[in-house]
Amino acid sequence: MFADQTNIVLRYEKIEAPVHGFADAVNEFVQEGGTGFNVTVPFKQAAFQLVTDHGQEALQSAAVNTVSVREDGLLYGDNTDGRGLCRDLERLGWTVADKRLLIIGAGGAVSGVTGSLLASNPRSLHITNRTHANAEALVNRFSDSRLKAVAPEQLDAGYDLIINASSAGLLGLGPDLPPHILNPESCCYDMVYGTSMTAFLAWAEEHGALQGSDGLGMLVCQAAEAFFIWFGLRVEVASVIREFRQ
Ligand code: ATR
Repeated sequence: MFADQTNIVLRYEKIEAPVHGFADAVNEFVQEGGTGFNVTVPFKQAAFQLVTDHGQEALQSAAVNTVSVREDGLLYGDNTDGRGLCRDLERLGWTVADKRLLIIGAGGAVSGVTGSLLASNPRSLHITNRTHANAEALVNRFSDSRLKAVAPEQLDAGYDLIINASSAGLLGLGPDLPPHILNPESCCYDMVYGTSMTAFLAWAEEHGALQGSDGLGMLVCQAAEAFFIWFGLRVEVASVIREFRQ
């Protein structure tokens, strides 16, 4: 759809790499003339190891979701998840600057977006996770005084923006967190998306939050950022999100 918008002719297809054959799959793709590709679970860390040059967000997250094959054949890897999330929050009109943010989860998805969220100047960014030690480890990697690992029972009341990045949502489970973290003005964002309301958004609505969004917009926006890396062109995302939603 981005290619149609920009009148670029391209092929964008899925390749299923064997679990132990990521590098071989990449080599084969490049040999066949491939010039760029996205990487998804479980290969984002393997892609980080494989590429020669890294963008800043790739370095911060130690994960790569977008690769360009340079003219000299070397691979450049970046991570557009964080920029994609921030762009989707902008699209929703949800400000990050000077706001109090909470992220639920401390896995790969969170390390991919933390740098971009901090660059958007929140007043504070708390991370809460089932395994507190994992949240602490993630926070220590960034060493930023606005970033704190907070245990569920220590969480503040009424965060401005709550982002769910726990994979519990994929199992249809809502968060096991005190509802006072929400108030009616809290904006609730779920990185998960699907055809029905996610468990986290249902939980948020049940406890009085009025504004919620799933992660479909982030999916499209991270792809738009990848498209920009490959072609240097900015594309329009709203119509693509609308079409996907339908
Ligand atoms: P992703 O790449 O999607 O972030 P991940 O790196 O496996 O996947 O991280 C999954 C996150 O969801 C972790 O924060 C995990 O918590 P732990 O650090 O305690 O493992 C969280 N998670 C997964 N299942 C969960 C559940 N049933 N309840 C709460 N948190 C869960």
